[in-house]
Amino acid sequence: MDLNGARILVVGATGVLGQRLCERLSEHTGNLVVTGRSAADAEQLRARLGARAAHALDLVDHDAAAAVVRTAAEELGGLDAVVIATGVAAFGPAAEEDEAVVEELFEVNALGPMAVVRAALPHLVDGGAVAVLTGVVAELPLAGMGAYAASKAAMASWLGSLRRELRSRRIAVVDARLPHMDTGLVDRALAGLPPALPPGHNIDDVIAALERGLERGAREVRID
Ligand SMILES: NC(=O)c1ccc[n+]([C@@H]2O[C@H](COP(=O)([O-])OP(=O)(O)OC[C@H]3O[C@@H](n4cnc5c(N)ncnc54)[C@H](OP(=O)(O)O)[C@@H]3O)[C@@H](O)[C@H]2O)c1
Repeated sequence: MDLNGARILVVGATGVLGQRLCERLSEHTGNLVVTGRSAADAEQLRARLGARAAHALDLVDHDAAAAVVRTAAEELGGLDAVVIATGVAAFGPAAEEDEAVVEELFEVNALGPMAVVRAALPHLVDGGAVAVLTGVVAELPLAGMGAYAASKAAMASWLGSLRRELRSRRIAVVDARLPHMDTGLVDRALAGLPPALPPGHNIDDVIAALERGLERGAREVRID
C-alpha cells in the first residue's frame, strides 16, 4: 500500500514500538489516529506528530475498543490500514502460571486485537492492510514464557485464517514476528522475571522493516 496520505489507525501507539512506528508513518501521512490506554499520553503523541486524532483504548473492554475503531474510521473517512502494537508479557514456568495472568495475556495479546480487527474490517478499503505485532515467540516458544508465547501463537494463527479470508478484498494481513528488542516490555511484565534473552535487536532497523512490510503488504515481517 502507498503510505503517502494513508488513513491509518495505530492501536497501542503510546508504547515504545508503537511510538517509533508512528514517528515514521507521520513522515508519510497526517491521517493517523493514535490510541493508548491513557488519553493524555495519546493526545501528547498526537500533538507531537501532528496526527489527526487521539483516543483512549483499553483492549480489556472489547465493546469500548470497537467503538473507538468506529470513531477513528469516521474521523478519517475510512481506513487504509490498522496497526496493532499493543501487548503485554509475563514470565515463569508454565506449570506455575497464575490463572488471572494467563487470562490477561490472552485478552491483551489475542482476544482484544481480534475484536479490534473485526471492528475495523467493515471500514477497511479493499487493497488495505492489517498489521499486528506478534513476535518470534509465536513459533519459537522459550522456557519460562509459555502463556505469553501461546497468546502470540493464537493471534498469529488467527491472522493466518484471516489472510486467506481477505484474499478477495486484497487486504494484506501482516504478521510482524519481531525479535527481542530492549524496549522495557520485559520489565513491565504482568508477572515473573524473563529468562536469559539474546541481545536486543536494533529498534530502528526493526521499525524500518515493519514499515517496508506494511508498504509491500508482506505476509510476515521477520528479522534474521
Ligand atoms: N519489545 C520486544 O522485544 C518485542 C518483541 C516481539 C514482539 N513485541 C511486541 O510488540 C508489541 C509492543 O511492544 P513494546 O516493546 O513496544 O512494549 P510497550 O512499550 O510496553 O508497549 C506495549 C503497548 O501495549 C499497550 N497495552 C498494554 N496493555 C494494554 C491494554 N489492556 N489495552 C490496550 N493497550 C494495552 C500499552 O499501552 P500504554 O502505552 O497505554 O501502556 C503499550 O502501548 C507487543 O505486542 C509485544 O509483544 C515486542
